[in-house]
Formats: sequence, structure tokens, C-alpha cells
Amino acid sequence: MKRLAIFASGSGSNAEQIINHFHNRSLQVCVDLILTNRPNAYVLQRAEKLGVESYVFNRASFYDSDAIINLLNERHIDLIVLAGFLWLVPKNLIAAFPNKIINIHPALLPKYGGKGMYGQHVHQAVVANKEIETGITIHLVDEIYDNGAILRQEKCEVQLSDTADTVAEKIHKLEYEYFAETIEEYLTKI
Ligand code: GRF
Repeated sequence: MKRLAIFASGSGSNAEQIINHFHNRSLQVCVDLILTNRPNAYVLQRAEKLGVESYVFNRASFYDSDAIINLLNERHIDLIVLAGFLWLVPKNLIAAFPNKIINIHPALLPKYGGKGMYGQHVHQAVVANKEIETGITIHLVDEIYDNGAILRQEKCEVQLSDTADTVAEKIHKLEYEYFAETIEEYLTKI
């Protein structure tokens, strides 16, 4: 049994999709824990509804202690998934889980990556620059924002009539279609 921990800062629709994906089709993988830096994040309600334990942490325990690493080790976590998680992952956590942290970014990296490029900011920039396509990037996490090895990219078209909101909808569709599948594939290699 491979055990996942998902970090999310907001709504958590990707987290929910991943939980359901493995719940429905695999006894070999389970989402063991949801972690968030925001006590009022909607992902916590999703976790409760789906019967997955959750853990809220603050900046001090994330950046200035080994509390999270200890918790993940105690629970025998094999892979960390960042699904809409907005804080930079500290070096000690990356060192404790080398090549075992996966992130999804809502653009075709290296375009529209880096600090400040998250959520609607990404889609607004894509629309403002009149891009004809955008997409998702699923990648390993290293010490630089949006920099690690790319596992998968998927594209969608952007029309002149698109807004940041309609681009976000297209991106979410791609995320729901490919994120869990890519995690499943990667788990067979670690
Ligand atoms: C996703 O588009 C993800 O790629 C981005 O933040 C969004 C999170 O959405 N980094 P949700 O919380 O999973 O609904």
C-alpha cells in the first residue's frame, strides 16, 4: 500500500478528485492525510466529508521545525502531492522526501511560473498576453518555485473570447483528467 499526503491551501477540488480516484479504483494507494496552512480552507470540509484525516499547520511549524516531517514519517507517507498549495516548500522537507514531492502548476512551464504566478494571476497573464494555448504542468518539486523535472504537460486552446475565469475552467478540466493518473504512474516508479 502506497500512502499519499496532499497539501492544499484553498478549495481542494483537485485533492477531492485524487482521493476519489484512488478510493474508486485502487487498493494499492490511499490518501492518508490532507495538510493545509489555512484553518478556513474549504479543503478541510472536503476531507471531513470524504473521511480523510486533516492537519492544519502554521508558518513556524512548517519553516522552523521538523514537525511536519516527523508527522509524515510517522504515517509512513510515500509521496507528497501539492494541489493548490501556495507556500514554498522548505529545504528540510525536500531533503527528507527527495523526488517524492509532486506539484501541479496551471500553465505550461517554464512559461507563467515563479513567485507570484499562481491561480488567477496565471490565467490573467495568459489572457493579457493573448496566448493561443495554455495548459498544465505536473512536475517534481525542488528548491526553486516551479523548477523541478516535468512529469507531464497537457495543453488546451485559448480563444480571444476567453477570460481568466473561462481559462481556469479549462485548466481544472485538464487537472481532473490527468493529475491522479500521473500520480498513479509515478507511484509505480518509486
Ligand atoms: C489549481 O488550478 C492548481 O493548479 C493551482 O491552484 C488550483 C487549485 O484548485 N495551483 P483546487 O484548490 O484544487 O480547487
